[in-house]
Amino acid sequence: MLTDTYGRVATDLRVSLTDRCNLRCTYCMPAEGLAWLPKPELLTDDEIVRLVHVAVAHLGVRDVRFTGGEPLLRPGLAGIVARCAALAPRPRLSLTTNGIGLARTAAALRAAGLDRVNVSLDTLRPDVFATLTRRKRHQDVLDGLAAAHAAGLTPVKVNAVLMRGHNDDEAPELLAWALEHGYELRFIEQMPLDAQHGWQRDGMITAEEILAGLSTRFALTPEPDDARGSAPAERWLVDGGPARVGVIASVTRPFCSACDRTRLTADGQIRTCLFAREESDLRGALRAGATDEELAGLWRTAMRGKKAGSGLDAPSFLQPARPMSAIGG
Ligand code: GTP
Ligand code: 5AD
Ligand code: SF4
Repeated sequence: MLTDTYGRVATDLRVSLTDRCNLRCTYCMPAEGLAWLPKPELLTDDEIVRLVHVAVAHLGVRDVRFTGGEPLLRPGLAGIVARCAALAPRPRLSLTTNGIGLARTAAALRAAGLDRVNVSLDTLRPDVFATLTRRKRHQDVLDGLAAAHAAGLTPVKVNAVLMRGHNDDEAPELLAWALEHGYELRFIEQMPLDAQHGWQRDGMITAEEILAGLSTRFALTPEPDDARGSAPAERWLVDGGPARVGVIASVTRPFCSACDRTRLTADGQIRTCLFAREESDLRGALRAGATDEELAGLWRTAMRGKKAGSGLDAPSFLQPARPMSAIGG
């Protein structure tokens, strides 16, 4: 088991497959992109499957989520999914994607063993999408969502970040659209993880504002807390249910005490937290010929260094050196 010194057990592994992305969301990275990791530093497909095997067979991980950058840019994705689906015990497999390319790949990923997807979409307006992501790919995302739903990668969840002056008036519209299509919508408070270090607390749309916006059009009743478990999203029943909407309020209502996550970066570093300032190298040991048990031991040791919380509220808070796009959210 991956137990930390606060008694939390990590059963959920997030694996970043690449730090590259085909969008340039303004709240994530600059227009020119970033200095991408050089290929030799990336874990190979074999190395990723080996480490996921260590996590599920030796460390009690039950859920594996592939992230990026944009994970659909990884050429071997379907093969990685298929090989992870064949591991024993079989982990639940999910993907967090911006949706571009999903229309082409959803059915094959489902066939490979992927269970579900979360797709990022912040707006229903193509012009606002082009401004926020700096790319004209709005329709591609809508098509990707429809294909994922049709392929049975369900429940399809949609992640939306609201940005003041751009899409902060869109919450009710987004929810009506999500209900109509059968997607589970979650709003995410913007976090200080952008590569430009431009985040400001005052600029962020808070959970309270999001809920006030939604309440102008919908009756929201909180889902009981015991339904939440360690999920980052707080959920509300919409108009009596069964439809739901979620808010991931990492900044104003942190959920660190229930955190069940461990992360692996595309270059093989263990991160104990989205906001961690330290990482532990697994790739070096892996490439030096470590056994499964040795790799598991390194992972257990790393998790004992997990902090109680994100530290976001401390005056001394510093953003991690790695931006969100290279951590995998
Ligand atoms: P499910 O609820 O299992 O569908 O997935 P998820 O919401 O954990 O995954 P997703 O990749 O869709 O992440 C949605 C948002 O939650 C992103 O903005 C993530 O950065 C954020 N998030 C995911 N894990 C953590 C975490 O451990 N801590 C914090 N603070 N935020 C997280
Ligand atoms: N704060 C909050 N969410 C973010 N995402 C990307 N950058 C940030 C940020 N700074 C979201 C994406 C995606 C998810 C993985 O994280 O929109 O839905
Ligand atoms: Fe790409 Fe996601 Fe960053 Fe947007 S938020 S640029 S989709 S990694």
